[in-house]
Amino acid sequence: MTTRCDRTQAWTALAGHYRAHGRDFDLRDAFTRDPGRAAALSCEAPEVFADLSKNLVDVAAMKFLLDLAHECGIEPRRDAMFAGEPINATEGRAVLHSALRAPRGAAAFSDEVHGVLDAMLAYADVQRDGTASGIRHVVNIGIGGSDLGPQMAVTALEPWVPTGLQMHFVSNVDGHDLTRVMRRLNARETLFVVASKTFTTQETMTNAMAARQWFLAQEGMTQADIARHFAATTTNVRAAAEFGITTTFGFWDWVGGRYSLWSAIGLPIALAVGGTNFRALLAGAHAMDRHFAETPLARNLPVLLALIDLWYRNFHHFGSRSVAPYHQGLARLPAYLQQLEMESNGKRVDMHGELLPYATSPVVWGEPGTNGQHAYFQMLHQGTDVVPVEFIAVKHAQHGLADSHTKLLANCLAQSQALMLGKSADEALAESAPTAAAGYDRARLAQHRSFPGNRPSTTLVLDRLTPRSLGALIALYEHRVFTTGALWGINSFDQWGVELGKALANRLLPRFASGDASGLDASTAALLARLRS
Ligand code: F6P
Repeated sequence: MTTRCDRTQAWTALAGHYRAHGRDFDLRDAFTRDPGRAAALSCEAPEVFADLSKNLVDVAAMKFLLDLAHECGIEPRRDAMFAGEPINATEGRAVLHSALRAPRGAAAFSDEVHGVLDAMLAYADVQRDGTASGIRHVVNIGIGGSDLGPQMAVTALEPWVPTGLQMHFVSNVDGHDLTRVMRRLNARETLFVVASKTFTTQETMTNAMAARQWFLAQEGMTQADIARHFAATTTNVRAAAEFGITTTFGFWDWVGGRYSLWSAIGLPIALAVGGTNFRALLAGAHAMDRHFAETPLARNLPVLLALIDLWYRNFHHFGSRSVAPYHQGLARLPAYLQQLEMESNGKRVDMHGELLPYATSPVVWGEPGTNGQHAYFQMLHQGTDVVPVEFIAVKHAQHGLADSHTKLLANCLAQSQALMLGKSADEALAESAPTAAAGYDRARLAQHRSFPGNRPSTTLVLDRLTPRSLGALIALYEHRVFTTGALWGINSFDQWGVELGKALANRLLPRFASGDASGLDASTAALLARLRS
């Protein structure tokens, strides 16, 4: 049904096009030659507008990339995902996070999904009313997908969180993480949510046990109080019950950890923003699902972004992509995307286990603008590597500080402009440089002060950051990751690469008590000795 990208005619055409035109493509010339470029390379999707025109693509590259998508069978593969076929072949599982946000009756498992959703949102709305419930602190204990998605969304939707409710996220097995939060808690006012798809993850179980111990050590707290102050979100309902948690919201193995914020794992989001807003988040994601499922590939935003990602990774050989959300609420988006993209597509064999002859996931990284500008943007503008940047601008702010918002947006536009336009040494020479050392050779100084330009970027624009637009934005990223994975012919839904480290940590653990270093390599043995002594 699917063909690997390097075995298509379009791949050969792309290689030829890259050599003839792609390598030396110049954005500035492209805009001069084609006044319609910005309009032609823009795309509207639900809640998200994308300006793709500052990317190193021309009409021919886009045509060959779209041919590639067709030849690789992106549409049948996408349809297979939505239809619940077991496309996660190595684990024999369907990939149905889209079913979690489908309206009642519109997708597989609707009764189960809406049954849990209704119960979870009813519970969240009761707990969220602090005057009635007495709950003022929610502590989500989870890691990876059981932490990053909810944490990112709660941060993004902060204006919807009641002022009297403090949301905390504890993930690291490093006890500093939990103790930092516990210092601020009052047991009577605290709800712990233990979030783990498997309910076996070392970090989460260790923190959950420590939290329970702390809770029971607080004055007046007994085992009976656990029922009111602990909830679990998991596919392993039995393990949660064995742990002593009676309030449990379940989900299913066809929901991948990094795709799970729409499931019961979203409980902290619902607690923070309420049931109605959680439903709006799901509705935004569903609108993007429809866009991905129904829009022709040439206007399908997740597909277009994925094709440009592949063009950069496999032909331009760019090793990373920087995400710069110009909205403080999206501060955790880059961390969330790191798991989504790198755990999904950081693979070196195809679906049949064959070694790949081309690169897959880039490194995804970033910080909110304008903070990043004062940290690493220097490298983006003048460093030796080209890093495509993804700007996210939000037209309307949720605060009344009009002056700051206009400055924020001006900075966002200025950065993509500067990356593209650059500044020649001649232009730099013609300028005054008040902070330059007196007597420093002016021509040499102009080299330091010049910018190569022609550095690519994409700008995504939201009208406002709301539960609905956030849902659409996240689903856009999910489908983009799906599409690049499908083009590369890999399974984006397993994560065997995290297993080895987990197993070795479990084997090392008893050696900290015993000191036994037999069979260890000399480096690990010496480090073990140093850390124990
Ligand atoms: O890091 C591997 C991983 O399995 C992630 O995919 C997952 O999100 C995370 O661990 C947490 O797993 P769980 O929700 O089962 O605790």
